[in-house]
Amino acid sequence: MAAWPVGAHSHIRGLGLDDKLEARPNSQGMVGQIRARKAAGVILKIIKQGKISGRAILMAGAPGTGKTAIAMAMSQELGDVPFTALAASEVYSMEISKTESLTQAFRRSIGIRIKEETEIIEGEVVEIQIDRSVTGVGPKTGKLTLKTTDMETIYDLGQKMIGSLTKEKVMAGDVIQIDKATGRITRLGRSFTRARDFDATGPDVKFVQCPDGELQTRKEVVHTVSLHEIDVINSRQQGFLALFSGDTGEIKSEVRDQINQKISGWCEEGKAEIVPGVLFIDEIHMLDMECFSFLNRALEGTMAPVVIMASNRGMARIRGTNYQSPHGVPIDFLDRLLIISTQAYNEDDIKQILKIRCDEEEVDMTEDALAVLTKVATTTSLRYAIHLISTGYMVAQKRKASKVDVVDIKRVSALFLDEARSVQYLTDYQDEFMFSEIAPSHGDRMAIDQPSA
Ligand SMILES: Nc1ncnc2c1ncn2[C@@H]1O[C@H](COP(=O)(O)OP(=O)(O)OP(=O)(O)O)[C@@H](O)[C@H]1O
Ligand SMILES: [Mg+2]
Repeated sequence: MAAWPVGAHSHIRGLGLDDKLEARPNSQGMVGQIRARKAAGVILKIIKQGKISGRAILMAGAPGTGKTAIAMAMSQELGDVPFTALAASEVYSMEISKTESLTQAFRRSIGIRIKEETEIIEGEVVEIQIDRSVTGVGPKTGKLTLKTTDMETIYDLGQKMIGSLTKEKVMAGDVIQIDKATGRITRLGRSFTRARDFDATGPDVKFVQCPDGELQTRKEVVHTVSLHEIDVINSRQQGFLALFSGDTGEIKSEVRDQINQKISGWCEEGKAEIVPGVLFIDEIHMLDMECFSFLNRALEGTMAPVVIMASNRGMARIRGTNYQSPHGVPIDFLDRLLIISTQAYNEDDIKQILKIRCDEEEVDMTEDALAVLTKVATTTSLRYAIHLISTGYMVAQKRKASKVDVVDIKRVSALFLDEARSVQYLTDYQDEFMFSEIAPSHGDRMAIDQPSA
Protein backbone atom coordinates (compact mmCIF):
# COMPACT_ATOMS: atom_id res chain seq x y z
CA MET A 1 0.00 0.00 0.00
CA ALA A 2 1.01 3.60 -0.48
CA ALA A 3 3.26 5.10 2.13
CA TRP A 4 1.00 8.12 2.50
CA PRO A 5 -2.72 7.76 3.24
CA VAL A 6 -4.70 7.89 0.03
CA GLY A 7 -7.68 10.26 -0.01
CA ALA A 8 -10.84 9.95 -2.07
CA HIS A 9 -9.68 12.36 -4.75
CA SER A 10 -5.95 11.67 -4.62
CA HIS A 11 -5.94 10.36 -8.20
CA ILE A 12 -7.21 13.66 -9.59
CA ARG A 13 -4.40 15.78 -11.04
CA GLY A 14 -6.35 18.18 -13.24
CA LEU A 15 -9.29 18.40 -15.60
CA GLY A 16 -7.41 16.51 -18.34
CA LEU A 17 -8.49 18.85 -21.16
CA ASP A 18 -6.31 20.30 -23.90
CA ASP A 19 -6.39 23.88 -25.22
CA LYS A 20 -9.40 23.17 -27.40
CA LEU A 21 -11.16 21.67 -24.38
CA GLU A 22 -11.02 18.17 -25.81
CA ALA A 23 -10.54 15.41 -23.29
CA ARG A 24 -7.09 13.85 -23.16
CA PRO A 25 -7.94 10.22 -22.59
CA ASN A 26 -6.88 8.80 -19.27
CA SER A 27 -4.61 11.69 -18.40
CA GLN A 28 -4.64 13.50 -15.08
CA GLY A 29 -6.91 10.96 -13.47
CA MET A 30 -10.23 12.05 -14.92
CA VAL A 31 -12.57 9.80 -16.88
CA GLY A 32 -15.75 10.53 -18.88
CA GLN A 33 -18.19 13.23 -17.69
CA ILE A 34 -17.02 15.10 -20.79
CA ARG A 35 -19.71 17.77 -20.92
CA ALA A 36 -19.33 18.81 -17.30
CA ARG A 37 -15.53 18.79 -17.64
CA LYS A 38 -15.68 20.96 -20.76
CA ALA A 39 -18.01 23.39 -18.99
CA ALA A 40 -15.58 23.50 -16.07
CA GLY A 41 -12.76 24.02 -18.57
CA VAL A 42 -14.49 27.07 -20.06
CA ILE A 43 -14.96 28.56 -16.60
CA LEU A 44 -11.35 27.79 -15.73
CA LYS A 45 -10.12 29.60 -18.84
CA ILE A 46 -11.92 32.82 -17.99
CA ILE A 47 -10.92 32.61 -14.35
CA LYS A 48 -7.26 32.31 -15.36
CA GLN A 49 -7.56 35.36 -17.56
CA GLY A 50 -8.85 37.21 -14.50
CA LYS A 51 -11.78 38.44 -16.60
CA ILE A 52 -14.69 37.49 -14.40
CA SER A 53 -15.53 37.78 -10.78
CA GLY A 54 -18.74 37.61 -8.84
CA ARG A 55 -20.16 34.78 -10.96
CA ALA A 56 -21.68 31.73 -9.41
CA ILE A 57 -21.80 28.22 -10.81
CA LEU A 58 -23.75 25.25 -9.57
CA MET A 59 -22.72 21.68 -10.24
CA ALA A 60 -25.77 19.52 -9.85
CA GLY A 61 -25.99 15.76 -10.17
CA ALA A 62 -26.53 12.47 -8.43
CA PRO A 63 -24.18 11.36 -5.62
CA GLY A 64 -20.87 9.97 -6.81
CA THR A 65 -20.98 11.57 -10.25
CA GLY A 66 -17.76 13.50 -9.74
CA LYS A 67 -18.86 16.98 -8.66
CA THR A 68 -16.30 17.29 -5.89
CA ALA A 69 -13.73 15.57 -8.12
CA ILE A 70 -14.21 18.19 -10.88
CA ALA A 71 -13.84 21.02 -8.36
CA MET A 72 -10.61 19.48 -7.05
CA ALA A 73 -9.35 19.12 -10.63
CA MET A 74 -10.04 22.81 -11.25
CA SER A 75 -8.16 23.79 -8.11
CA GLN A 76 -5.09 21.92 -9.31
CA GLU A 77 -4.93 23.87 -12.54
CA LEU A 78 -5.25 27.33 -11.05
CA GLY A 79 -1.59 28.07 -10.25
CA ASP A 80 -1.25 31.10 -7.99
CA VAL A 81 -4.94 31.96 -8.34
CA PRO A 82 -6.42 31.33 -4.88
CA PHE A 83 -8.84 28.45 -4.38
CA THR A 84 -10.78 27.89 -1.17
CA ALA A 85 -12.91 24.84 -0.46
CA LEU A 86 -15.64 25.04 2.11
CA ALA A 87 -18.33 22.57 3.13
CA ALA A 88 -21.52 24.55 3.62
CA SER A 89 -21.96 23.17 7.13
CA GLU A 90 -18.68 24.80 8.19
CA VAL A 91 -20.39 28.19 8.35
CA TYR A 92 -22.26 27.09 11.47
CA SER A 93 -19.63 27.73 14.10
CA MET A 94 -19.94 28.82 17.70
CA GLU A 95 -17.12 31.37 17.52
CA ILE A 96 -18.05 33.46 14.54
CA SER A 97 -21.29 34.30 12.78
CA LYS A 98 -22.37 32.72 9.51
CA THR A 99 -21.86 35.92 7.59
CA GLU A 100 -18.40 36.45 9.08
CA SER A 101 -17.33 32.97 8.12
CA LEU A 102 -18.67 33.44 4.57
CA THR A 103 -16.93 36.82 4.38
CA GLN A 104 -13.66 35.19 5.44
CA ALA A 105 -14.13 32.48 2.83
CA PHE A 106 -14.77 35.14 0.19
CA ARG A 107 -11.67 37.09 1.13
CA ARG A 108 -9.53 33.96 1.26
CA SER A 109 -10.50 33.45 -2.39
CA ILE A 110 -9.31 36.85 -3.61
CA GLY A 111 -5.64 37.23 -4.26
CA ILE A 112 -3.58 40.38 -4.42
CA ARG A 113 -0.58 40.16 -6.69
CA ILE A 114 1.93 42.60 -5.30
CA LYS A 115 4.82 43.72 -7.46
CA GLU A 116 7.92 44.85 -5.67
CA GLU A 117 11.16 46.17 -7.02
CA THR A 118 14.09 45.05 -4.96
CA GLU A 119 17.75 45.76 -5.23
CA ILE A 120 19.80 42.66 -5.62
CA ILE A 121 23.45 41.90 -5.98
CA GLU A 122 24.20 39.05 -8.33
CA GLY A 123 27.62 37.72 -9.20
CA GLU A 124 30.18 34.95 -9.07
CA VAL A 125 32.06 34.51 -5.81
CA VAL A 126 35.77 35.07 -6.29
CA GLU A 127 36.83 34.84 -2.69
CA ILE A 128 35.39 34.72 0.79
CA GLN A 129 37.67 35.83 3.55
CA ILE A 130 36.59 35.59 7.18
CA ASP A 131 38.69 37.16 9.91
CA ARG A 132 38.45 35.80 13.40
CA SER A 133 39.38 38.05 16.26
CA VAL A 134 42.56 36.91 17.99
CA THR A 135 40.75 35.79 21.13
CA GLY A 136 38.15 33.81 19.21
CA VAL A 137 35.28 35.73 20.84
CA GLY A 138 33.43 38.78 19.61
CA PRO A 139 31.87 39.36 16.21
CA LYS A 140 33.48 37.99 13.10
CA THR A 141 34.13 40.22 10.16
CA GLY A 142 35.12 39.44 6.63
CA LYS A 143 35.28 40.34 2.98
CA LEU A 144 33.44 38.94 -0.01
CA THR A 145 34.74 39.43 -3.53
CA LEU A 146 32.12 39.16 -6.26
CA LYS A 147 32.49 39.58 -10.00
CA THR A 148 30.52 39.75 -13.19
CA THR A 149 32.08 39.41 -16.61
CA ASP A 150 32.49 43.19 -16.57
CA MET A 151 33.45 44.14 -13.03
CA GLU A 152 34.69 43.00 -9.65
CA THR A 153 33.92 44.47 -6.22
CA ILE A 154 34.85 43.71 -2.62
CA TYR A 155 32.08 43.88 -0.03
CA ASP A 156 32.50 44.08 3.74
CA LEU A 157 30.73 41.30 5.58
CA GLY A 158 28.91 41.59 8.90
CA GLN A 159 28.13 38.84 11.39
CA LYS A 160 24.71 38.10 9.86
CA MET A 161 25.96 37.77 6.30
CA ILE A 162 28.78 35.50 7.39
CA GLY A 163 26.17 33.35 9.08
CA SER A 164 24.03 33.00 5.97
CA LEU A 165 27.04 32.41 3.72
CA THR A 166 28.10 29.53 5.95
CA LYS A 167 24.56 28.19 6.15
CA GLU A 168 24.18 28.20 2.36
CA LYS A 169 27.66 26.62 2.08
CA VAL A 170 28.75 29.26 -0.43
CA MET A 171 32.19 28.64 -1.96
CA ALA A 172 34.38 30.42 -4.46
CA GLY A 173 32.98 29.67 -7.91
CA ASP A 174 29.32 29.81 -6.87
CA VAL A 175 26.98 32.28 -8.52
CA ILE A 176 24.87 33.88 -5.80
CA GLN A 177 22.13 36.42 -5.40
CA ILE A 178 21.84 38.70 -2.39
CA ASP A 179 18.63 40.53 -1.62
CA LYS A 180 19.85 43.92 -0.38
CA ALA A 181 16.78 44.65 1.75
CA THR A 182 16.63 41.40 3.64
CA GLY A 183 20.18 40.12 3.25
CA ARG A 184 18.89 36.79 2.04
CA ILE A 185 21.38 34.78 0.00
CA THR A 186 20.31 32.41 -2.76
CA ARG A 187 22.73 30.08 -4.50
CA LEU A 188 21.91 30.05 -8.19
CA GLY A 189 24.45 27.41 -9.14
CA ARG A 190 28.12 26.97 -9.97
CA SER A 191 29.82 29.05 -12.61
CA PHE A 192 30.54 27.35 -15.94
CA THR A 193 34.13 28.42 -15.63
CA ARG A 194 34.37 25.92 -12.78
CA ALA A 195 32.84 23.11 -14.82
CA ARG A 196 36.17 21.28 -14.90
CA ASP A 197 35.88 20.82 -11.11
CA PHE A 198 33.06 18.42 -11.92
CA ASP A 199 34.60 15.56 -10.00
CA ALA A 200 34.71 17.64 -6.89
CA THR A 201 31.10 18.76 -7.13
CA GLY A 202 29.12 15.66 -7.98
CA PRO A 203 26.40 15.05 -10.55
CA ASP A 204 23.48 17.10 -9.20
CA VAL A 205 25.09 20.52 -9.30
CA LYS A 206 23.57 23.11 -11.60
CA PHE A 207 25.97 25.09 -13.73
CA VAL A 208 25.10 28.67 -14.68
CA GLN A 209 26.68 31.49 -16.68
CA CYS A 210 28.65 34.11 -14.79
CA PRO A 211 26.35 37.18 -14.89
CA ASP A 212 27.32 40.20 -17.01
CA GLY A 213 26.90 43.94 -16.51
CA GLU A 214 26.55 45.65 -13.14
CA LEU A 215 26.77 43.63 -9.93
CA GLN A 216 23.89 45.55 -8.45
CA THR A 217 20.59 45.30 -10.35
CA ARG A 218 16.93 45.96 -9.76
CA LYS A 219 14.57 43.05 -10.05
CA GLU A 220 10.82 42.81 -9.96
CA VAL A 221 9.41 40.14 -7.69
CA VAL A 222 5.73 39.20 -7.60
CA HIS A 223 3.99 37.52 -4.73
CA THR A 224 0.37 36.68 -4.20
CA VAL A 225 -1.39 36.92 -0.85
CA SER A 226 -5.06 36.60 -0.12
CA LEU A 227 -7.18 39.46 1.18
CA HIS A 228 -7.93 37.37 4.25
CA GLU A 229 -4.25 37.06 5.08
CA ILE A 230 -3.89 40.83 4.89
CA ASP A 231 -6.99 41.21 7.11
CA VAL A 232 -5.63 38.90 9.77
CA ILE A 233 -2.19 40.47 9.85
CA ASN A 234 -3.70 43.92 10.20
CA SER A 235 -6.34 43.18 12.81
CA ARG A 236 -4.62 44.23 15.97
CA GLN A 237 -5.88 41.69 18.48
CA GLN A 238 -5.02 38.73 16.25
CA GLY A 239 -1.59 39.18 14.72
CA PHE A 240 -0.19 36.98 12.04
CA LEU A 241 0.13 33.95 14.33
CA ALA A 242 -3.63 33.55 13.95
CA LEU A 243 -2.96 32.51 10.35
CA PHE A 244 -1.32 29.35 11.64
CA SER A 245 -3.72 28.58 14.46
CA GLY A 246 -6.72 29.36 12.23
CA ASP A 247 -8.26 31.06 15.26
CA THR A 248 -8.96 34.40 13.63
CA GLY A 249 -12.20 35.41 15.36
CA GLU A 250 -14.37 38.15 13.91
CA ILE A 251 -12.50 40.82 12.01
CA LYS A 252 -13.79 44.37 12.35
CA SER A 253 -15.38 45.85 9.28
CA GLU A 254 -13.35 49.06 9.72
CA VAL A 255 -10.17 47.03 9.32
CA ARG A 256 -11.50 45.55 6.08
CA ASP A 257 -12.61 48.95 4.78
CA GLN A 258 -9.17 50.39 5.38
CA ILE A 259 -7.51 47.47 3.65
CA ASN A 260 -9.84 47.74 0.65
CA GLN A 261 -8.99 51.42 0.33
CA LYS A 262 -5.29 50.82 0.59
CA ILE A 263 -5.41 48.09 -2.02
CA SER A 264 -7.43 50.07 -4.51
CA GLY A 265 -4.78 52.77 -4.04
CA TRP A 266 -2.04 50.27 -4.84
CA CYS A 267 -3.95 49.08 -7.89
CA GLU A 268 -4.23 52.62 -9.22
CA GLU A 269 -0.50 53.12 -8.76
CA GLY A 270 0.12 49.87 -10.58
CA LYS A 271 1.83 48.31 -7.55
CA ALA A 272 -0.76 45.59 -7.12
CA GLU A 273 -3.33 43.67 -9.06
CA ILE A 274 -6.50 41.97 -7.85
CA VAL A 275 -6.79 38.28 -8.77
CA PRO A 276 -10.33 36.98 -8.31
CA GLY A 277 -10.02 33.33 -7.34
CA VAL A 278 -12.45 30.52 -6.71
CA LEU A 279 -14.57 29.71 -3.69
CA PHE A 280 -15.94 26.18 -3.79
CA ILE A 281 -18.91 25.51 -1.50
CA ASP A 282 -19.76 21.82 -1.35
CA GLU A 283 -23.15 20.51 -0.16
CA ILE A 284 -24.78 23.88 -0.85
CA HIS A 285 -28.19 22.72 0.45
CA MET A 286 -26.79 23.04 3.97
CA LEU A 287 -26.85 26.84 3.68
CA ASP A 288 -29.91 28.63 5.05
CA MET A 289 -31.93 31.62 3.88
CA GLU A 290 -29.64 34.17 5.60
CA CYS A 291 -26.55 32.70 3.93
CA PHE A 292 -28.19 32.75 0.51
CA SER A 293 -29.21 36.36 0.91
CA PHE A 294 -25.68 37.20 2.01
CA LEU A 295 -24.26 35.44 -1.07
CA ASN A 296 -26.73 37.26 -3.30
CA ARG A 297 -25.45 40.57 -2.03
CA ALA A 298 -21.77 39.65 -1.73
CA LEU A 299 -21.56 38.46 -5.32
CA GLU A 300 -22.40 41.98 -6.42
CA GLY A 301 -19.55 43.53 -4.47
CA THR A 302 -16.51 44.98 -6.22
CA MET A 303 -14.20 42.29 -4.89
CA ALA A 304 -15.88 38.93 -5.32
CA PRO A 305 -14.45 35.58 -6.36
CA VAL A 306 -16.06 33.08 -8.68
CA VAL A 307 -18.25 30.89 -6.48
CA ILE A 308 -18.68 27.25 -7.47
CA MET A 309 -21.26 25.22 -5.63
CA ALA A 310 -22.20 21.57 -5.64
CA SER A 311 -25.36 19.77 -4.69
CA ASN A 312 -26.74 16.26 -5.04
CA ARG A 313 -30.25 17.16 -3.90
CA GLY A 314 -33.33 17.27 -6.08
CA MET A 315 -36.36 19.14 -4.76
CA ALA A 316 -35.44 19.82 -1.17
CA ARG A 317 -36.48 21.99 1.71
CA ILE A 318 -34.52 25.24 1.99
CA ARG A 319 -32.84 25.05 5.36
CA GLY A 320 -34.62 27.12 7.99
CA THR A 321 -37.84 27.43 5.99
CA ASN A 322 -40.70 25.18 4.98
CA TYR A 323 -40.34 25.92 1.29
CA GLN A 324 -39.25 23.34 -1.22
CA SER A 325 -36.91 24.42 -3.97
CA PRO A 326 -34.68 22.72 -6.58
CA HIS A 327 -31.36 21.63 -4.94
CA GLY A 328 -32.54 23.31 -1.72
CA VAL A 329 -31.50 26.65 -3.25
CA PRO A 330 -33.97 29.57 -3.35
CA ILE A 331 -35.33 30.24 -6.84
CA ASP A 332 -34.13 33.85 -7.02
CA PHE A 333 -30.59 32.79 -6.20
CA LEU A 334 -30.78 29.82 -8.56
CA ASP A 335 -31.64 32.28 -11.31
CA ARG A 336 -28.18 33.86 -10.99
CA LEU A 337 -26.32 30.60 -11.36
CA LEU A 338 -24.76 28.92 -14.34
CA ILE A 339 -25.71 25.29 -13.89
CA ILE A 340 -23.44 22.42 -14.89
CA SER A 341 -25.03 19.01 -14.58
CA THR A 342 -23.11 15.81 -14.04
CA GLN A 343 -24.48 12.59 -15.52
CA ALA A 344 -24.36 9.03 -14.29
CA TYR A 345 -21.38 7.06 -15.64
CA ASN A 346 -21.61 4.26 -18.15
CA GLU A 347 -19.97 0.92 -17.51
CA ASP A 348 -16.73 1.69 -19.37
CA ASP A 349 -16.18 4.89 -17.43
CA ILE A 350 -16.86 3.14 -14.14
CA LYS A 351 -14.38 0.44 -15.02
CA GLN A 352 -11.72 3.01 -15.82
CA ILE A 353 -12.34 4.98 -12.63
CA LEU A 354 -12.08 1.78 -10.58
CA LYS A 355 -8.89 0.88 -12.38
CA ILE A 356 -7.36 4.27 -11.62
CA ARG A 357 -8.40 3.91 -7.97
CA CYS A 358 -6.71 0.48 -7.85
CA ASP A 359 -3.49 2.03 -9.19
CA GLU A 360 -3.73 4.90 -6.73
CA GLU A 361 -4.20 2.55 -3.79
CA GLU A 362 -1.49 0.27 -5.18
CA VAL A 363 -3.78 -2.72 -5.32
CA ASP A 364 -3.31 -5.42 -7.95
CA MET A 365 -6.58 -6.81 -9.23
CA THR A 366 -7.34 -9.52 -11.77
CA GLU A 367 -9.37 -8.60 -14.87
CA ASP A 368 -12.22 -10.84 -13.70
CA ALA A 369 -12.36 -9.19 -10.31
CA LEU A 370 -12.39 -5.77 -11.96
CA ALA A 371 -15.29 -6.88 -14.16
CA VAL A 372 -17.21 -8.11 -11.13
CA LEU A 373 -16.45 -4.90 -9.23
CA THR A 374 -17.73 -2.88 -12.20
CA LYS A 375 -20.98 -4.88 -12.10
CA VAL A 376 -21.20 -4.19 -8.36
CA ALA A 377 -20.75 -0.48 -9.03
CA THR A 378 -23.51 -0.38 -11.65
CA THR A 379 -25.99 -2.17 -9.44
CA THR A 380 -25.07 -0.38 -6.20
CA SER A 381 -22.90 2.73 -6.35
CA LEU A 382 -19.44 3.81 -7.46
CA ARG A 383 -18.53 4.81 -3.91
CA TYR A 384 -19.46 1.40 -2.54
CA ALA A 385 -17.37 -0.31 -5.20
CA ILE A 386 -14.41 1.97 -4.42
CA HIS A 387 -14.62 0.90 -0.77
CA LEU A 388 -14.38 -2.72 -1.79
CA ILE A 389 -10.94 -2.15 -3.36
CA SER A 390 -8.93 -1.69 -0.17
CA THR A 391 -11.07 -4.05 1.89
CA GLY A 392 -10.77 -6.67 -0.87
CA TYR A 393 -7.00 -6.21 -0.73
CA MET A 394 -6.98 -6.95 3.01
CA VAL A 395 -8.92 -10.16 2.44
CA ALA A 396 -6.64 -11.19 -0.42
CA GLN A 397 -3.61 -10.60 1.78
CA LYS A 398 -5.09 -12.83 4.42
CA ARG A 399 -5.22 -15.75 2.01
CA LYS A 400 -1.67 -14.80 0.93
CA ALA A 401 -2.63 -13.89 -2.61
CA SER A 402 -0.84 -11.01 -4.34
CA LYS A 403 -3.80 -10.08 -6.52
CA VAL A 404 -7.37 -9.34 -5.54
CA ASP A 405 -9.60 -11.93 -7.21
CA VAL A 406 -13.33 -12.54 -7.63
CA VAL A 407 -13.54 -14.51 -4.37
CA ASP A 408 -12.19 -11.55 -2.41
CA ILE A 409 -14.71 -9.16 -3.92
CA LYS A 410 -17.50 -11.62 -3.17
CA ARG A 411 -16.26 -12.03 0.38
CA VAL A 412 -16.12 -8.30 1.18
CA SER A 413 -19.42 -7.55 -0.50
CA ALA A 414 -20.93 -10.15 1.81
CA LEU A 415 -19.16 -8.61 4.82
CA PHE A 416 -20.13 -5.00 4.12
CA LEU A 417 -23.61 -3.94 3.17
CA ASP A 418 -24.29 -1.40 0.48
CA GLU A 419 -26.94 1.20 1.15
CA ALA A 420 -29.85 -0.62 -0.50
CA ARG A 421 -29.19 -3.84 1.39
CA SER A 422 -28.70 -1.91 4.60
CA VAL A 423 -32.08 -0.20 4.21
CA GLN A 424 -33.64 -3.55 3.44
CA TYR A 425 -32.10 -4.98 6.59
CA LEU A 426 -33.41 -2.09 8.66
CA THR A 427 -36.93 -2.44 7.35
CA ASP A 428 -36.84 -6.20 7.92
CA TYR A 429 -35.56 -5.99 11.46
CA GLN A 430 -36.67 -2.53 12.54
CA ASP A 431 -38.44 -3.77 15.66
CA GLU A 432 -35.11 -4.79 17.16
CA PHE A 433 -33.57 -1.33 16.81
CA MET A 434 -34.16 1.62 19.11
CA PHE A 435 -36.18 4.68 18.10
CA SER A 436 -37.58 3.08 14.99
CA GLU A 437 -40.00 5.49 13.38
CA ILE A 438 -40.78 3.87 10.07
CA ALA A 439 -44.36 2.72 9.88
CA PRO A 440 -44.35 -0.90 8.73
CA SER A 441 -46.62 -0.12 5.77
CA HIS A 442 -44.31 2.31 3.91
CA GLY A 443 -40.77 1.17 4.33
CA ASP A 444 -39.44 2.84 1.20
CA ARG A 445 -36.34 5.02 1.33
CA MET A 446 -38.02 8.38 0.82
CA ALA A 447 -39.90 7.97 4.09
CA ILE A 448 -36.66 8.19 6.07
CA ASP A 449 -35.63 11.48 4.47
CA GLN A 450 -38.92 13.29 4.95
CA PRO A 451 -38.85 15.87 7.74
CA SER A 452 -41.45 15.19 10.37
CA ALA A 453 -43.54 18.31 9.85
N1 LIG B 1 -14.80 11.59 -13.90
C1 LIG B 1 -14.11 10.99 -12.94
N2 LIG B 1 -12.85 10.56 -13.16
C2 LIG B 1 -12.15 9.98 -12.20
N3 LIG B 1 -12.61 9.76 -10.95
C3 LIG B 1 -13.84 10.15 -10.65
C4 LIG B 1 -14.66 10.81 -11.62
N4 LIG B 1 -15.84 11.07 -11.07
C5 LIG B 1 -15.78 10.64 -9.81
N5 LIG B 1 -14.59 10.08 -9.53
C6 LIG B 1 -14.19 9.50 -8.24
O1 LIG B 1 -15.35 8.85 -7.71
C7 LIG B 1 -15.52 9.16 -6.34
C8 LIG B 1 -16.84 9.89 -6.09
O2 LIG B 1 -16.86 11.14 -6.76
P1 LIG B 1 -17.20 12.53 -6.04
O3 LIG B 1 -16.83 12.49 -4.61
O4 LIG B 1 -16.61 13.63 -6.84
O5 LIG B 1 -18.76 12.55 -6.18
P2 LIG B 1 -19.77 13.75 -5.88
O6 LIG B 1 -20.47 14.06 -7.17
O7 LIG B 1 -19.09 14.87 -5.20
O8 LIG B 1 -20.81 13.04 -4.91
P3 LIG B 1 -21.65 13.64 -3.69
O9 LIG B 1 -22.84 14.33 -4.30
O10 LIG B 1 -22.06 12.44 -2.92
O11 LIG B 1 -20.77 14.57 -2.94
C9 LIG B 1 -14.32 9.97 -5.94
O12 LIG B 1 -13.32 9.12 -5.42
C10 LIG B 1 -13.88 10.59 -7.25
O13 LIG B 1 -12.52 10.92 -7.20
MG1 LIG C 1 -19.12 15.66 -3.23
